[in-house]
Amino acid sequence: MPSQTIQGFRASFLDTIADPFYLPETDCIRYFSDGLLVVENGKVKDLGNYQDLRTKYAEIPITEYLHNLIVSGFIDTHIHFPQTEMIAAYGEQLLEWLSTYTFPTERKFADRNYALEIASIFLDELLRNGTTTALVFTSVFPQSTDAFFEEAQRRNLRMIAGKVMMDRNAPDFLTDTADSSYIETKQLIEKWHKCDRLLYAVTPRFAVTSSPEQLSNAGKLLAEFPDVYMHTHLSENVKEVEFVAEVFPESAGYLDVYDQAGLVGERSIFAHGVQLTDQEFARLSAANSAIAFCPTSNMFLGSGLFKIEKAKSQETPVKVGLGTDVGAGTSFSILKTACAAYQVAQLRSQKLSAFQALFLATLGGARALCLEDKLGNFEIGKEADFVVLDPRSTPIMALRNKPLNQAEPLTLAEISDQLFATIIMGDDRAIAATYIMGELAHKA
Ligand code: GUN
Ligand code: ZN
Repeated sequence: MPSQTIQGFRASFLDTIADPFYLPETDCIRYFSDGLLVVENGKVKDLGNYQDLRTKYAEIPITEYLHNLIVSGFIDTHIHFPQTEMIAAYGEQLLEWLSTYTFPTERKFADRNYALEIASIFLDELLRNGTTTALVFTSVFPQSTDAFFEEAQRRNLRMIAGKVMMDRNAPDFLTDTADSSYIETKQLIEKWHKCDRLLYAVTPRFAVTSSPEQLSNAGKLLAEFPDVYMHTHLSENVKEVEFVAEVFPESAGYLDVYDQAGLVGERSIFAHGVQLTDQEFARLSAANSAIAFCPTSNMFLGSGLFKIEKAKSQETPVKVGLGTDVGAGTSFSILKTACAAYQVAQLRSQKLSAFQALFLATLGGARALCLEDKLGNFEIGKEADFVVLDPRSTPIMALRNKPLNQAEPLTLAEISDQLFATIIMGDDRAIAATYIMGELAHKA
């Protein structure tokens, strides 16, 4: 922490304070056209209109972003760091994609130095895209998990990650055993969970690559360490669901395989959920588990269209965040991921508003990761991870998004329109800067 521990940021600010899938948008959004964010020791101390707060904080240094919109840092609820280099692998759906491209790539992560190199590129890329927190698959090799946490720690990031557990239906070079995965995971939890801002997720790859013994060991770890997370894949692809039924003939369905092992709880995050049944949505809702909605991946691998309205229903509400799922996902950008989420909704005759998309990218993601007390908006006391957006980062975006006039606050409809265009047209170029605990971590 530098000696200067209190500082201000003057810009337009927008955050979500409640869920716009369930409440009127006006109750969910805060907007300050000319705002002041005060950060003390890396945490939010105050947020309000600049004119109201300036005398109270007359002495503090202020960084101005007068033509920008500052939002809370983006949260990616599902991504694979070892797949960074194999993004855009041609022509296959899930199971063939895994055996053709993914498994050979992940083999390289037995080499700790290689893992460090890619972890560094990966984290820099997240920050370039405004993503400040992610839930991350590493690889089966514990040294790759160490490498990831070391690089995240060096950057003072709030990251959740885990060693992949996989002991069958995968090449020998990429499998552990039920026992070794238990021992290695336990050691990693003891080393990294709650170390600085880092948190651990017990990470069985998916049902078919784990024996019942390994899944039960994962459940045992969750019972022994009740505040670690559980992170896996669920009901992504039709052939995968059939494969699960083949290898777990006694189970009542895909989610039931995890349930029987004690893996379905409040801190469980399931990626995809494209093929879920209504009963499975109801079970996820009752367990207060979360789904990572990964629209670019679901389209890229031809997996299908996630039913967001089922997850955000009144009857069986399930926590949802956005996941890029790189390398099956096609972009590190949460803006592009939110754009894809909008398109998926359209293909199912649903709507996803700009504020709903912002919620999924920030507070919704924080809730999915049980980090609502620390992240997701600018409430006082939360960690000051935030993104400076440039809604006019390309010539056509500048044409589409008229300059913000801070003297004249935009109406809610106008902000919604600008945010929508930024989500649909924006990418890494729209990220002017990324701040971690109030410190500049990336500048375009
Ligand atoms: N299911 C099991 N492993 C994977 C993976 O690496 N990516 C995706 N998208 N789905 C999976
Ligand atoms: Zn994945």
